[in-house]
Amino acid sequence: MFSLTLLSIYDNLNKFMKIKQKVGIIGLGNMGAAIYKALLSSNTFSLLAYDIDRKKTSKIRKGKLANTPGKVISGSDILILAIKPQEISSFLKTQARLIIKKKPLFISIAAGLEIKFFQKYLPGVSIIRAMPNIAATVGESLSFISKNKFVSRAQLKHSLRIFSLLGETEVITEAWLNKVTAISGSGPGYVYFFMDSLFASAIRLGFSKKVAKKIVLAVFSGSVKLAKSSGSDFSKLLASVTSKKGTTEAGLGIFKKESTKSTIHKVVTKASFRAKELSKTVSKT
Ligand SMILES: NC(=O)c1ccc[n+]([C@@H]2O[C@H](COP(=O)([O-])OP(=O)(O)OC[C@H]3O[C@@H](n4cnc5c(N)ncnc54)[C@H](OP(=O)(O)O)[C@@H]3O)[C@@H](O)[C@H]2O)c1
Repeated sequence: MFSLTLLSIYDNLNKFMKIKQKVGIIGLGNMGAAIYKALLSSNTFSLLAYDIDRKKTSKIRKGKLANTPGKVISGSDILILAIKPQEISSFLKTQARLIIKKKPLFISIAAGLEIKFFQKYLPGVSIIRAMPNIAATVGESLSFISKNKFVSRAQLKHSLRIFSLLGETEVITEAWLNKVTAISGSGPGYVYFFMDSLFASAIRLGFSKKVAKKIVLAVFSGSVKLAKSSGSDFSKLLASVTSKKGTTEAGLGIFKKESTKSTIHKVVTKASFRAKELSKTVSKT
């Protein structure tokens, strides 16, 4: 993880020199809005945002909202693109020229789309491909980033600062990014699927929705807290709650019989494959 001391030196230096990097955000859906909120509350960056959908911009402060993507691009040192992968080609076809002229640090958080795809539209531009997850909304994302050769040390520091405001950050080589996307980017979806399934089971057992939700939340937050504080391997924790001939063992027997572990691996592999597929289909458009 990037050293917090270095980041606080970076913050203090910027405050001392009264330098505020201008960050532009295009797309204020789930992820763009999470990034906007985190950056706004840190007060480290100056912000300007744009979304095609006016409903998404209702909570954006006046003075931080642009009415065209061009205004965001020309006013940004760092440009964060937070729109769906399928919409990115048409965005770049209309905006690439302006981005090349302005040369901001360009950050994409799109699943699947490779740095080389962006370089085709944005030759010579500093590009970061990042993969946060939705836990960024509560400052708990473990984000992964990789960069092209044009990204300077200062630009890397700025991007580490941005992603540290969403949680923790790791710099990795791009070859890992689709795998990270399948485990971490899509991960909250798998967890919510399991939570929803446990919730549905509790309802079938006769609990009210309110109680079922309370139980599921307590099970998850308690288990995560214990796993974090003990630092034990997950398999050890599993063994510690599975007494011989007990209730948990009886229930888990079904997971074994149904090869649930291999199903989960299939789910993750499919998501990783989808990231590659997105890259291929979007590159053709
Ligand atoms: N959601 C996640 O958990 C997650 C995690 C990691 C990475 N990502 C990546 O983050 C990106 C955004 O995902 P999201 O879930 O935040 O999507 P989202 O909720 O659909 O938000 C995208 C927003 O961008 C708007 N938009 C579309 N085209 C635009 C354009 N040309 N200019 C400006 N705004 C435009 C959309 O408006 P309309 O709705 O009207 O199209 C929408 O408001 C994706 O590339 C995704 O792969 C998502």
